[in-house]
Amino acid sequence: MVKIAVIPGDGVGKEVIPEAVRALEALNRARSLDLSLETFDYGADRYLRDGVTMPDEQVEAFREDYDAILLGAIGDPRVPDNRHGREILLGLRFKLDLYVNLRPVQLLDERFCPLKGKTVRDIDFTVFRENTEGLYADVGGIFKKGTPDEIAVNEDVNTRKGVERVIRAAFEFAKKRGKRRVCMSDKANALRFAHDLWQRVFREVGAEYPGIEKRHLYVDALAMQLLLRPEAFDVIVTCNLFGDILTDLGAALCGGLGLAASANLNPASTPMFEPVHGSAPDIAGKGIANPLASFLTSALLLDELGLPAEAQILERAVRDAVAAGKLTPDAGGTAKTREVADFVIARVEALSGG
Ligand SMILES: NC(=O)c1ccc[n+]([C@@H]2O[C@H](COP(=O)([O-])OP(=O)(O)OC[C@H]3O[C@@H](n4cnc5c(N)ncnc54)[C@H](O)[C@@H]3O)[C@@H](O)[C@H]2O)c1
Repeated sequence: MVKIAVIPGDGVGKEVIPEAVRALEALNRARSLDLSLETFDYGADRYLRDGVTMPDEQVEAFREDYDAILLGAIGDPRVPDNRHGREILLGLRFKLDLYVNLRPVQLLDERFCPLKGKTVRDIDFTVFRENTEGLYADVGGIFKKGTPDEIAVNEDVNTRKGVERVIRAAFEFAKKRGKRRVCMSDKANALRFAHDLWQRVFREVGAEYPGIEKRHLYVDALAMQLLLRPEAFDVIVTCNLFGDILTDLGAALCGGLGLAASANLNPASTPMFEPVHGSAPDIAGKGIANPLASFLTSALLLDELGLPAEAQILERAVRDAVAAGKLTPDAGGTAKTREVADFVIARVEALSGG
């Protein structure tokens, strides 16, 4: 049995993740997969009700007893300091040591791309964002808070082990998927210590992959190149902060957050899959959230669990929805979340022979 923990979370997470679960259940039935999906209520409602965010025992249970986690989004205007968000999301990523944040940037249809003259062949790369260190390590402090002499510090934490494992994961991915080029991006010209480490490790690890073209770009140059020549990239590996920013840019190249998927990985732990978008309080409850990112995220989950044929069925069903123009307003359509999901799930059933 393959055990999947489902955490819809907050806002539109509670609208799109149940649709992803319906799609996974449809595949489960049609392809006799033996998936077991169990839903957990962590999120703002639970936090506001009883103060619970993400108990350590629960993280341990996820690590020991589950094969994957599917998470919607965490964030709620009723929790302005986002304490529950940090503890649930960063807690899972950090405590499960999910050091790779993998984000595919793949254009499904030219009409989604804001760039002139770019085709689906031009925009197809994968970002490996370091996911457990860097400026997100929560190391720092505030001194003399609220006074004119206030000092606020966040440390940029980069370990040899942390940098090496994400760079190696990017090269391994390129090798397995037949990708020709890996680009590492940093800001070593200004961050002379932390990113010097990235430069040295990239050279050392890269030497083990002679068949793969290695390239380095400072992050400002990369941001520009992604707009001018996105076709020049196959795999990009970078630190936590830069990966966060660049992948939103990547999402914008492909039609926005409603279509962007991500996986948090460590081969020795329980992987977690989440759409890139947040809880979108501005549209939550209106029934118009785009469910395609959640379907594409579920396809990543299936692929990672060793079910590539099923992952392809789900991805193909999403492409069919795009081709048919069955889209929510953010993607240029007029359909509701449920209508898009019904279409995708019907295609999943048809493509599964169910
Ligand atoms: N991984 C996560 O759980 C995660 C990620 C980002 C933000 N957040 C949280 O979400 C809350 C809102 O953050 P934000 O507004 O900066 O980012 P957001 O991703 O929630 O929304 C940004 C914009 O994209 C739109 N959008 C997002 N998802 C969409 C979807 N599925 N369909 C259609 N439109 C969609 C929203 O309507 C909004 O206009 C905050 O509390 C933030 O902390 C959580």
